[in-house]
Amino acid sequence: MPIPKKAVFLDRDGTIIQDSGYIGTTDKVEMFNNTIETLLRLQKEYELFIVTNQSGIGKGLITEEEAENVNNYIDKILKDSGVNIKEWYTCPHKTEDNCKCKKPQPFFIEKAAKDFGIDPAASWVIGDHPHDVDFAANAGAKGLYVLTGHGGKHLKELPADVEIFHNISEAADRILSKNKTKGNNNYCNIKDGAEYLKNGGLVAFPTETVYGLGADVFCPDAVENIFALKKRPHFDPLISHISSINMLQMLTDTVDERAQKLIKAFWPGPLTLVFPKKESVPDIVTGGNPTVAVRMPSHPTALALIEKANTPIAAPSANSFGKTSPTTSKHVIEQLGTEGYKIIEGGACRVGVESTVLSLVHKTPMLLRPGGLAVEEIEKIIGKIDTANKPQLKNLESPGLLASHYAPSTPLYLIDALPKDNGNPKTGIILFGEQKIKSDGPVEALSTTNDPEEAAANLYAAMRRLDKLGLEKIIAYKLPDKGLGLAVNDRLKKAAYKG
Ligand code: TXA
Ligand code: MG
Repeated sequence: MPIPKKAVFLDRDGTIIQDSGYIGTTDKVEMFNNTIETLLRLQKEYELFIVTNQSGIGKGLITEEEAENVNNYIDKILKDSGVNIKEWYTCPHKTEDNCKCKKPQPFFIEKAAKDFGIDPAASWVIGDHPHDVDFAANAGAKGLYVLTGHGGKHLKELPADVEIFHNISEAADRILSKNKTKGNNNYCNIKDGAEYLKNGGLVAFPTETVYGLGADVFCPDAVENIFALKKRPHFDPLISHISSINMLQMLTDTVDERAQKLIKAFWPGPLTLVFPKKESVPDIVTGGNPTVAVRMPSHPTALALIEKANTPIAAPSANSFGKTSPTTSKHVIEQLGTEGYKIIEGGACRVGVESTVLSLVHKTPMLLRPGGLAVEEIEKIIGKIDTANKPQLKNLESPGLLASHYAPSTPLYLIDALPKDNGNPKTGIILFGEQKIKSDGPVEALSTTNDPEEAAANLYAAMRRLDKLGLEKIIAYKLPDKGLGLAVNDRLKKAAYKG
């Protein structure tokens, strides 16, 4: 019997090229800069197919010939670079028409199975729209979601258990490493990770905010190893992560009405609450403070890990102290190396900045760190809160208030004004949204739709990409201080050069 072949089905617009809407002419084609490199890697192990939903044909905005012409043009660019696309599949229908292409099974996977002997169960779909992931699931393949194209815009519609990636290259890493987990460095699954934690080991794991480096809260020796691996000073306390309210009761006896309201509204999610601690919580977790910071993350992998380990998990972000937080498993390994911990893969983090830290030990709740939950949302539930945004704060109530943190190695400058043109190829630029700029150096736009949530999800990965280019400096422009804009600006401010 011939061996069933495995394939990767790639969405065209937003995944391999920019989505500039109803592309009818070749001058509108703009390939992502990592597309070719990625496809060359994938084709060593997978047949490649490109799938494209051209609803513009059904709507009469472009003709079938125009779409075909654009496909041929892209196909030729890829071929000239050594990439062979097995087949192109175009769906010309409007979404409203409930076309046969998508129901009951996505036609392209079925067709590729029939025509080329592709095994759906060994195949993947990569796309920037939630329906790409649905197609895959309906046909027994696995779908991966990318934040390029419309990925940021539709993120809110995506089910929580779908893995997301910043771009096609990261999604390919995921597909290719899947085949190599055996004997490969320190990746492990949830069950083994939980076992390792229970035996006093450290496990890095995905949360919806950033990757954490976890240890059993009630195992001080293991917690000590977190500080050593991160080179983190002991005065900086850790957040305890829980998967149930029962676990909260292992950490504090003081859950007042404000806390109850906040928990009901925002847990699981990117909100950390600081409570008076129970005596049994080890000092090493709380930095000797009489308080304990607790959060229930919403990432399904994080919740499953905590539940299986059956203990609260103390976890800071899985980076060296003061450096940029990791939003993929690869970022963790780049920073921490491969020794002294195991890691669970979980794609890119959806929120992308750390949780909001709110202290409930004061009469008026106090914001200790802006983060993944907007202050405006908290105030809707419990009214006005105080902000502790003052570096002179005595004995640093929360080291998250330290002036320097989250820093890339390249000096970064944060600028208030509108972007200026950049004539220096050694200067990188971080923009928020649709601002236009002429630049001889690399540019990272954090959101294409002026959406601070999308900007947060892209922030750290963009900082890391620029940091690898050997630039002289990075100039970042501030977002409006609203919603998650507050957290993004806070991180940029702390990443800014203090020399
Ligand atoms: O999103 C997050 O919060 C991530 C993920 C892994 O959950 N974790 C994270 O941890 O960012 P870390 O250690 O990088 O930041 C924890 C922040 C620090 O600013 C720390 O000072 C503050 O929480 N914190 C922890 N315990 C505290 C306490 N008892 N009182 C006041 N602040 C506390
Ligand atoms: Mg951190």
